[in-house]
This record gives sequence, C-alpha cells and structure tokens, in this order.
Amino acid sequence: MSLLADRLARVKPSPTMAITALATQLKAAGRDVITLSQGEPDFDTPDNIREAGIAAIRRGETKYTVFDGRIELKQAICGKFKRENGLDYETSQITVSNGGKQVLYNALVATLSRGDEVVIPAPYWVSYPEMVLLCDGEPVPVACPQNNGFKMRPEDLDAAITPKTKWLILNSPSNPSGAAYTEADLRALADVLLQHPHVWVMTDDMYEHLVYDDFEYKTIAQIEPRLYGRTLTVNGVSKAYCMTGWRIGYAGGPRELIKAMGAVQSNSTANPCSISQAAAIEALNGPQDFISKNNRKFKERRDLVVDWLNRVPGLHCPRPEGAFYVYPSCAGVLGKSTPDGKLIETDEDFARYLLEAEGVAVVHGTAFGLAPHFRISYATSNEELVDACTRIERACQSLR
Ligand SMILES: Cc1ncc(COP(=O)(O)O)c(C=O)c1O
Repeated sequence: MSLLADRLARVKPSPTMAITALATQLKAAGRDVITLSQGEPDFDTPDNIREAGIAAIRRGETKYTVFDGRIELKQAICGKFKRENGLDYETSQITVSNGGKQVLYNALVATLSRGDEVVIPAPYWVSYPEMVLLCDGEPVPVACPQNNGFKMRPEDLDAAITPKTKWLILNSPSNPSGAAYTEADLRALADVLLQHPHVWVMTDDMYEHLVYDDFEYKTIAQIEPRLYGRTLTVNGVSKAYCMTGWRIGYAGGPRELIKAMGAVQSNSTANPCSISQAAAIEALNGPQDFISKNNRKFKERRDLVVDWLNRVPGLHCPRPEGAFYVYPSCAGVLGKSTPDGKLIETDEDFARYLLEAEGVAVVHGTAFGLAPHFRISYATSNEELVDACTRIERACQSLR
C-alpha cells in the first residue's frame, strides 16, 4: 500500500511559491535577484492595527476563541458587508478562518463529492484547481483570453455548466490578470446563473479595495439579490490591510453552508489566531484612509510597468483595473533564441530565461492556466520596478 493518498497524485505544489523559493535560494547564493513573483503588498501593516494586536496580547487574549471567530469580529465583518457591499448578513452567516485560503478550502471540502465540477475562469489563482482536486472534484477551466479583457463571457459560462456543476469561482479583481468585473459584466453572468439554479457561486473578493481609475467595485450577491442564497462571498484582510502574515480571511453565506464549513474547521485547525482576530477587528472598524494612499502608489507602479513593457519588443501588456499584478503576453518572443542559443518555446522558457539571464523572477502564465503570458507583481518599490523593467527590456532585446 502506498503511503500517499491517491488524490495527492493529482495535485501540484504552488508554482508561485516554488518560484519565490528559487529566487530566495539564488539570492542566498549571492545572485542579484529581483522578485516580482510575490503576492503580497510591500507596505507594513498600519500602526493602529499592529497596536491592536499588541494590546490583545497584553489583555491576555491568548486562549482559544470560538472555532470560527469571535462574535466581535463577526459583527465587524457584518458591518463591513453592509457598509461596503450593501449585503445583509447576520453573525450566524459569517465564518472566519486562517486566511482566505482556508475559507475557500473549507467551502470546497464541505460541499464537493467525487466528480463534482467547479467552473474556474482562466487565468486563475493557482490554488483553485488544486484545492478542487484535493477535494476529489473536477476543475473545469474556461479560457478567458486577453481580447475578452481576461473576463468570462456569459456564453462561455453557459457552455461550461453541466448537471454536475457545483460551483462557479469568480475572482475580481483577479490574481493573476488584475481584471475586474463591472456591474454590467456581473449582470450578464448573473442572468446565466439564474437559468441554472443548481450552481453555487464562490466569489473571491480578496482584492476588492485594490482598484484604480475610479473603477466601481461590485460583488455578485449585491447586484443580483436572487443569487444571495447560493453565493459565498469570500474576503479577508490580507491584501488591502497589508496583513498577509496575520492569516485572517472570512466569508458570508447561507447558514447551512457556513455551519458545514465550521464543522470542517472545528475538527482541523479550530480558531484563527486570537491576536490576529483582535487586529482584524481594528482593521475593519478603524480608519480606512491608508487604503487610498496605498492605492495611489499601486496605480503609479501599475502605469510605470504597463507603459514600459508596452515599449519592449515582443511583449504586450494590458492595463488592468485592479489588484497588484499585470499579465503581459509574451507571444512575440516565442520562437526566438537566447544569446547562448536556447530556443524560447513556451512562457515557462521565457520566465526561466528572465531569471537566469537577468535575475528577474516572474511566474509563467501556464501556471495560471492561460499561456503565453507571465505575471508580474508590482507590489514593490518604484526603484526596483525600474530596475526590473530595464532588465526585462534588455533580455528581450538580446533575443534573436
Ligand atoms: C485570489 C486570491 N484569493 C485568496 C488568496 C489567499 O489569501 P490569504 O492570504 O488571506 O489566505 C490569495 C492570496 O494570494 C489570492 O491571490
């Protein structure tokens, strides 16, 4: 009998984490490497939030809490959903986990039976299909190419739905493309979903606050109340509040689903960190003005990278609505050769070339289910981005 479960044979480790680990290894060996593969803001957690964590330690909030989050945090989350999304949830409809990642995983563990299908627009966050596979489900990627703005068209959604479809996973703004769905885009998808009452919607709104150019953010249960009863609205403090290490994610949804997710969590990790919960209450209830300040910097960086890459021969970079990623096409460099004679056949070859030749770590598009592209995270300083773009340009100019 083999040690590892059969289902593990279907799962790959996260390629984004693998590339970041390789870049860290190269750096440790003395190479000058710029890491553009990380999925977290470079800004520190704001002081008031850090102080709330310290105060919680001083008050002795160092014990177990309710397994799916303290009532005060659930109340703060209900307040956020009402204030920012016009969504009414009661505390019994809220669950809090160790990051958005655990929220999504709990929901899939709690609902997927062998062979259930999950529709995932591609490019997608790398963990969605792997989580579905870990739960014995079947990921159904739907290509959403650049000429559709990396967004799923209603007709493509309709064609992907079968009697076995359990979930549609939506992620707006998207990791990796930065694309965000407008109210009209969501309306069109909602109209399709209303025709298929057996399909549930998991909307991953992790990058909600990171939108630029006056983009008006909406989430699907808000624009179509008839979907509220079969939507899990997932969010968290990791990205907008610069709290990736604190590990707090949450969701609002139908009571039956929330209870089932709680059953999974109470028997696995139990409560998210008590200190992080105190900090998350401050994040949600405290001042929000630092978000727009950070966004001004993110927007400037996005424009710097997009404008630069569009001057580079062989690359084409759409200007995304949100998140802190761009997802340029590298179709124009495929078929060329590196100065030492290696043929660039795929986006993976191109990403490896950037790392080896110029010490720039990016993630190849194949990892996100849509090639030939690569993902750049611009959550780093302007100086580092200028240096990285200079190197990418030089690498492309050296191709023959
Ligand atoms: C689209 C998306 N969803 C969820 C997560 C997970 O967030 P957390 O760090 O809160 O687990 C990430 C993190 O990279 C993400 O990019």
